[in-house]
Amino acid sequence: METTVEDLKPESGTVVKGPQKNDETITVVDNRTNRVYTIPIVEGAIRATDLRQIQCSLGDPGLMTYDPGYINTAACRSTITYLDGDSGILRYRGYPIEQLAEHSTFLETAYLLLHGELPTSEQSDEWERAIMAHSMTHENIKKFLDGFRYDAHPMGILMSTVAALSTFYPESRNVSDPACRRMQMVRLIGIMPTLAAYAYRHRLSLPYITPDPELGYTKNYMNMLWKRLEPKYVANPVLARALDVLFILHADHEQNCSTSTMRSVGSADADPYSTTAAAIAALSGPLHGGANEEVLRMLEEIDTRDRIPGIIAQVKAGQRKLMGFGHRVYKNYDPRARIIKQVAEKVFEVTGRNPKIDIALELERIALSDEYFISRKLYPNVDFYSGIIYEAMGFTPDQFTVLFGIPRTVGWLAQWDEMHRDPGKKIARPRQIYAGEPHRDFVPIELRGRRDLAA
Ligand code: CMC
Repeated sequence: METTVEDLKPESGTVVKGPQKNDETITVVDNRTNRVYTIPIVEGAIRATDLRQIQCSLGDPGLMTYDPGYINTAACRSTITYLDGDSGILRYRGYPIEQLAEHSTFLETAYLLLHGELPTSEQSDEWERAIMAHSMTHENIKKFLDGFRYDAHPMGILMSTVAALSTFYPESRNVSDPACRRMQMVRLIGIMPTLAAYAYRHRLSLPYITPDPELGYTKNYMNMLWKRLEPKYVANPVLARALDVLFILHADHEQNCSTSTMRSVGSADADPYSTTAAAIAALSGPLHGGANEEVLRMLEEIDTRDRIPGIIAQVKAGQRKLMGFGHRVYKNYDPRARIIKQVAEKVFEVTGRNPKIDIALELERIALSDEYFISRKLYPNVDFYSGIIYEAMGFTPDQFTVLFGIPRTVGWLAQWDEMHRDPGKKIARPRQIYAGEPHRDFVPIELRGRRDLAA
């Protein structure tokens, strides 16, 4: 593999003369030592551990890659979701998101993500029965919920309650057993809307509504949220379908922050409830799922169109971010945002137009014609329009990220299960570049001078 050259130091990116080999390798010249290394390229990637052989001296631990935020690091192989950010393409198991949003249901999409194939109608019925059979919570969960203050954020409630489930189902620790994993996945998908609805009603001091499996996934969720004194709550079918489509759009998004948290925590063989709670924590951040809540607060602050130029000026001056804009992977229009815009119009036919949509559209129009956003390839993402729909449907902003978490549970679990099936699974344990003090000897307290600490 390794040869020494004295004179081979071409400029980066220049074409080296010689017979073209077309082999799937990369040749690296270490200019510190003049050594040449040939490293295989497999599926468009090199193995970071292949760089270890690049050493300066005996005992050198070898070359590492430095990639804060994993901007260009593939941490797994996956067959679940395909995302081409430059072309704005998103597919689940090969199926375009646009087709799933038009023709599928959330539970069917969940089946697809977890099993790799769309179900037959028999499999679909069986799947729905299994999920709905696990929508009920243990009574103690209600007591646990009652311990939260009336104004507790629903994401905090969801995260803690999901973590608490690990104490109800201790057998879930058996993560190497596929049947046990499947049981917990079905249970988590089934119970998530119930926990979310209970978190909602806790805030309003309303009694909890027992799930009704006959209603199906989304309508049952709506029933648990909004049923009051009427003998039978009937969900508006347009709103139920809109919510179902929103669930489809949020179900998975490959290695985003919460999913990589799921894989990272799960790689230590932690049980799926603790692991999902960790993913919920990641999702709650305003740079991730929490952005939908922030978008609405931003639109509330803008209030009227004439304030938009002022906000854009603040963004361009680096004083704030335009929430719901930008994405690590999409450098083109987020295909989910395009679908959500259409869903919004259908919802408004039922609920009446949410005036915030016009502010959002104007904000988008101005941003997309501004050099700052164009040069940075900043487009509206999934969170830009979703909150406007949720608000029109009657949700308060603090519920929005919960509405993201319910469907994303499917993606988290599909990725978690795939990780456990991968024979190459390894505990997540990145390296670091140590940039601290070198060796120094302990100083007794009476001999220490005061050193002001960094803020
Ligand atoms: N508003 C203004 N400027 C932005 C924004 C934004 N929303 N997003 C990125 N930029 C700028 C950023 O300041 C940087 O500029 P410069 O090159 O001058 O320093 C440039 O664009 C590149 O940004 P980055 O921070 O390196 O991009 P990233 O890939 O690390 O971050 C992001 C991606 C989603 C965290 C970021 O775009 C962001 O904070 N957006 C707002 C929050 C948001 O909407 N999050 C939801 C993401 S989609 C759903 C989800 O995954 O949950």
